[in-house]
Amino acid sequence: MKALETREDIELLVDKFYDKVGSDDIIGFFFNDIAKVDWNHHLPKMYNFWETLLFGKSAYKGNPMAAHFPLNEIVPMEKSHFEHWLKLWTETIDELFSGSMAETAKYKASNIASLMAYKMEMARKL
Ligand code: HEM
Repeated sequence: MKALETREDIELLVDKFYDKVGSDDIIGFFFNDIAKVDWNHHLPKMYNFWETLLFGKSAYKGNPMAAHFPLNEIVPMEKSHFEHWLKLWTETIDELFSGSMAETAKYKASNIASLMAYKMEMARKL
């Protein structure tokens, strides 16, 4: 298994992950039906996001949390959705990569997913 070390690796990982997400019974509808995501726009944004998070490149300029509040207002984004998101992310990494950067990608995703789940829950209580 290979190390996660280049922009091309991130593109492969993100493509495979969103292939799964797009046809997923539990969270796919957020992308397909609620946000009606334009994948040609979303995928490059996500390459940049992960390149920034993992390799410290300043490719991504945005606010990941803010993008999710409007979705959460339409359909509650529950802890179980984030756990499932993380399961798919972890599975995809394990299928493709190993090593310390692969572990970091799982760890960082897990932290953000927990924080995001918490923020979505709090927003619903306001
Ligand atoms: C159940 C879990 C999640 C769902 C259903 C979900 C869904 C979405 C959707 C539909 C968009 C596109 C919004 C739009 O363009 O209209 C989006 C954007 C995004 N998501 Fe998520 N997401 C989830 C979890 C996460 C997590 C855990 C992360 C980070 C590790 C993340 C990072 C991002 C980023 C960076 C964007 C782009 C924000 C921007 O426009 O700059 N998402 N998400």
